[in-house]
Amino acid sequence: MKILAIETSCDETAIAILEIKEQKSPKFKLLANIVSSQVKLHAEWGGVVPSLAKREHLKNLPLILKRSLFKAKIKNPKKEIDLIAVTNGPGLEPALWTGINFAKDLAKKWDKPILPTNHMEGHLFSVLLNKKEFTIPKIELPVIALLVSGGHTELILIKDWLKYKLLGQTRDDAAGEAFDKVARMLNLGYPGGPAISKLAKPVGNRISHKIELPRPMINDYSPEGEFDFSFSGLKTAVLYETKKLKTLDKKTKTEICAEFQQAVIDVLISKTLRATEKYKAKTVIVAGGVAANKELRKQFKKVALTSDSKYMLLFPEIKNTGDNAAMIALTAYFRWNKNKKPVRSINSGRALKANGNLKIA
Ligand code: KG4
Ligand code: ZN
Repeated sequence: MKILAIETSCDETAIAILEIKEQKSPKFKLLANIVSSQVKLHAEWGGVVPSLAKREHLKNLPLILKRSLFKAKIKNPKKEIDLIAVTNGPGLEPALWTGINFAKDLAKKWDKPILPTNHMEGHLFSVLLNKKEFTIPKIELPVIALLVSGGHTELILIKDWLKYKLLGQTRDDAAGEAFDKVARMLNLGYPGGPAISKLAKPVGNRISHKIELPRPMINDYSPEGEFDFSFSGLKTAVLYETKKLKTLDKKTKTEICAEFQQAVIDVLISKTLRATEKYKAKTVIVAGGVAANKELRKQFKKVALTSDSKYMLLFPEIKNTGDNAAMIALTAYFRWNKNKKPVRSINSGRALKANGNLKIA
């Protein structure tokens, strides 16, 4: 079967076409995987502007569809595509609606079913997208997943595939959002994650002595706070530091970035490790835009090697950490496969709505 997936939850317009050959174990081939980023456009405004994102998605979707079909050598989509998958949340609702409406039009034109797909579940499965052609490796359960993006910071327990238990989440800003806001304070542009990690690099994980920032909730072992996060206080602490300083030269910015990045890493690793130990996880997955952070990856790997509990640590390839539609196509396949219903009965698409706050669990 072939799945065409559409992703427009934030500032990337993406379409992917995934072919699945169902033998003993399914074999996957990404026939097309196109992502058009609007980052440059939003950078001028210091963050994503929903109305601009919507306008760009509307402009880009037909062009990307054409390119995807061409890349996948699909001449007659009505005959060749079996299922349309589309992200229905979480994300920016005006942006999500563009993808959903586009998917509905295609479904009508090609007479195909639509499968709404959760963006965060997509990030989770992005760890499996390592090559154009791939099979699914054995991943031992239970899994602890840390999903860290611009809008989310969630710790999830997976005891059975496609069933999620939310252990904790951010109470205010997401980790990526904190990177973006701190970068804005330091005039480093948007998106903040890559800019901060680039500047922090010379200092790495050597803790700065001049600037010390808090590690919010790191020592909260209460049942209500054990696996929750909070990054807005950390962001405010950076603001106070910048106000205290007379000059904000490059060296000082470098120190702030290194210490800020380390504070985020310390909290993310500490809470993930705590959950891993508590639930005796055999696998730990770290995914979402922030999983592109090289220092985070390095330190997570170091901890996995030295910690008493033994588990397999999985990250998506850096190129797959950001938003894409390949992860949506793969997630849709798993969902479709689980239901084992004839594809046609899944969803007529009529009731399909965008849900900005769609939950994974
Ligand atoms: O998953 P994603 O592409 O979009 C959402 O679903 O939100 O994540 C985007 C977020 C942004 O906040 C961005 O600053 C952050 O991921 N990010 C990073 C890095 N690269 C992207 N954060 C830290 N370090 C990075 N290298
Ligand atoms: Zn995302």
